[in-house]
Amino acid sequence: MRFGVLTGGGDCPGLNAAVRAVVYRAARSGHETVGFLDGWKGVRDRRVRPLTTAEVADAILRGGTLLGSSRTNPFRSEEDAAKVLATLRSESVDVLVAIGGDDTLSAARELHRRGAKVVGVPKTMDNDVAATDWTFGFDSASSVAVDALERLRDTANSHHRVVVLEVMGRHAGWVALATGLAGAADATLVPEEPYDEASLLDRVRAGVRQRGFALVVVSEGVDLGTPKGTVAGTDQFGHELLREREVGAALARRIEEATGIEARSAQIGHIQRGGAPTLFDRLLATRLGAKAVDLALDGRFGTVAVLRGSEVLGVPLDEALRENKRVPAAWLDLLHTFEPR
Ligand code: F6P
Repeated sequence: MRFGVLTGGGDCPGLNAAVRAVVYRAARSGHETVGFLDGWKGVRDRRVRPLTTAEVADAILRGGTLLGSSRTNPFRSEEDAAKVLATLRSESVDVLVAIGGDDTLSAARELHRRGAKVVGVPKTMDNDVAATDWTFGFDSASSVAVDALERLRDTANSHHRVVVLEVMGRHAGWVALATGLAGAADATLVPEEPYDEASLLDRVRAGVRQRGFALVVVSEGVDLGTPKGTVAGTDQFGHELLREREVGAALARRIEEATGIEARSAQIGHIQRGGAPTLFDRLLATRLGAKAVDLALDGRFGTVAVLRGSEVLGVPLDEALRENKRVPAAWLDLLHTFEPR
């Protein structure tokens, strides 16, 4: 069997570990692997390279993706879709392992519906893929954000300021939740809860009263009621480019105006997605990459390798794509337990 592998969507730590696991697990059973460059774009345009175990041996240590990535949607036109199928035929790829978030996996599902043999591996720093308890990339990205918040704390403390940290996460608040909870923020705003300015200002004032400064974490997907038309464009899958809303900066301005306390903001953006994966992400990516190969060897095409509890298993792509996984009430309740009063 000849495996193909691609990494699509936003990069995140752990992708190389997953690619490495695919290559090694396939090689163990005597199968070779080729990598497609820059996500679906590489399949469409037939840009491919062989992958040996020697080449990927140390890949688990590194961030980014050695294959490159893109947000290309290969099913935007029938012409592109035909090119994708033609590449798989001409490269004699029997099974394609698609490593990505919702968009990459929805393209994988479409390819499977068109008759190709596909298995998926979920990844995203947003942690918003349904059917898996955690996605790799999330732990690494959130650890970077916690580190940033700790550094901002020093300045907030020295200058008796309010500092707002804006983190990524799209329309799910997992990264903000983890950052606020693990980094001891005074207030954490997530898209799962409606924006309540009065409650935010209460928490900020209480934080300043208690310690002389306040830290606020806000997810990029929080809607502050900004007038429509001020947002930037969309990507190939139709998603709004949230960073350009700059909710962190807007929030800092509102806090300063309302409280008279000096406020600053920081948007750490793609810094969250860079660097070496954490231990958790290395292990999760390795397990899921290996599982994807096992699923293919068992003939379970159209499935995704996921983590449930401590087990890795395969579920249908449809199940993994049913809905975006958002932060549930129990996590929000825990988060609010630690806010100043
Ligand atoms: O989906 C991962 C993610 O990092 C989101 O949190 C963020 O909104 C988006 O990607 C940024 O995308 P890009 O790298 O295309 O700017």
